[in-house]
Amino acid sequence: MVQNVRYVPGMAWAIPELHRDTAQPLAAQIAGFYAEAIRSGRLPLGERLPPIRAVAEGAGVARGIVQAAYLALAEQGLVEATVGRGTVVVHSSGASPAQPLSAYAEAALRRLEEMPGAPPLPPGRPLVANFAELAPDAGSFPVGEWRAAMDALLAARGAAVLGYGHEANGLPELRALLAERWRSHDPAVTADDLLVTAGAQQALDLALRTFCAPGDTVVTTAPSYHQMFGLLQAHGLQVVTVPFTAAGLDLERLAAALARPSVRLLYLMPTFHNPTGRTLDLPQRRALVEVLAQSRVPVVEDEYQHSLRCRGTPLPTLRSLDPRGLTLTVATVSKELFPALRLGWLVGGADLLRPMAAVKRFMDLETSPLLQAALVEFVRAGALDRHLQRLRTELAARHQALQDAARAELPAGCTITDPDGGFVAWLELPLPGQGDRLAELAAERGVRVVPGRVFDLHGQPARGVRLSLTRADTTSIAAGMAVLGRVARDLLQSPRAAQSFL
Ligand SMILES: Cc1ncc(COP(=O)(O)O)c(C=O)c1O
Repeated sequence: MVQNVRYVPGMAWAIPELHRDTAQPLAAQIAGFYAEAIRSGRLPLGERLPPIRAVAEGAGVARGIVQAAYLALAEQGLVEATVGRGTVVVHSSGASPAQPLSAYAEAALRRLEEMPGAPPLPPGRPLVANFAELAPDAGSFPVGEWRAAMDALLAARGAAVLGYGHEANGLPELRALLAERWRSHDPAVTADDLLVTAGAQQALDLALRTFCAPGDTVVTTAPSYHQMFGLLQAHGLQVVTVPFTAAGLDLERLAAALARPSVRLLYLMPTFHNPTGRTLDLPQRRALVEVLAQSRVPVVEDEYQHSLRCRGTPLPTLRSLDPRGLTLTVATVSKELFPALRLGWLVGGADLLRPMAAVKRFMDLETSPLLQAALVEFVRAGALDRHLQRLRTELAARHQALQDAARAELPAGCTITDPDGGFVAWLELPLPGQGDRLAELAAERGVRVVPGRVFDLHGQPARGVRLSLTRADTTSIAAGMAVLGRVARDLLQSPRAAQSFL
């Protein structure tokens, strides 16, 4: 096994992570990995590709497979085999010298161009149910109470809250309030364990910037949050996925993935996972922490819907169970309150937060102190608790309506998750591709759902679709599920209808 070889400046690891459970041949994966590195400029003109032997050993494949990949790259005009210098890049990334783009920008642009979503309704087709959007519905936003909090803040403090806050980790009053509320998940947490960020997305970005370098590997679940895939690609990171199914997280595969030398981070959503709504129960969390004990890989657990529990009691975070002190929790107000605040936070020990705070300092100096102070006012006035009470009551009714409709409408062979909270559930059919086809056919009948392939690293055909309950009230849930039930029945009766997606 090749260890810690740095063939390419700026790329800690130039050996591709191969995915043996996809239809794409290994040689094509290897060629794709280097083609992407060349086109993005990470492997610049004149740079040498790693020797075939090193790639074969590092990726665990026969040399012939790597040779075939290098030949394919040569045929695309990207590299040339030279006597004495090995295989050399002969293509420049194409960025015009007048406007050079970073590898990050190239990858982000490419991802945005390619990013799939929910199929739109045909023009003129009336909407029956919208299960696509995960952003909370504007109708739920507590506009009056937010305005009152902002007015009260400005009346009391005036210009004093309009300058820089000089609190790079976040306003101490806000961190104290958040820590107090967070203790139902993580009993020992204090204000010092918190770093306030511009939403969960910035917290995820910070974790990657702090702990990973281009070419490193991040492990996540299959399926996983699609915007995280975009972020990982923009950072030039490789991704290894571990199945997260009705049986839980595949811990054997996880242990194998964590043992890979290039792995720098594990990202997962233990509660109300996006897109399936699944939650790791306490025994599953403990078993996961036992697997983690064998490694020094830091974990980022994304608790983006932490407060949206309608049933049962809050579960301890992985961070509170991980004796290594290597887990960070990410949280946000986007789903529990409203996303325009762009406020989130990280929970972690000083060893993890200190470098992250330094990285963040040069990104944005600090997260808006005005909005942080207004949130303090809002929470102290009891407005967040009142809002959450209303939200959870409505959410519980919507989940109940979804399960009732699923029982009444779905044909045998379909399954649906029944989460204890959060906005999402996952409807699954038996065969790969049927979820994507269901999304297409449902849109033609006025129902919007997100096809499962959106949440697959390689956009592979999926069995499932994500159903979000932010925009669907109990009446449209019943109507929408009746449509989904009919479409699913048609698909199961003539499986060939699903083939067009494969
Ligand atoms: C799993 C997950 N993490 C993070 C985010 C981003 O949240 P924020 O709006 O706080 O940046 C989302 C948004 O949908 C999400 O689904």
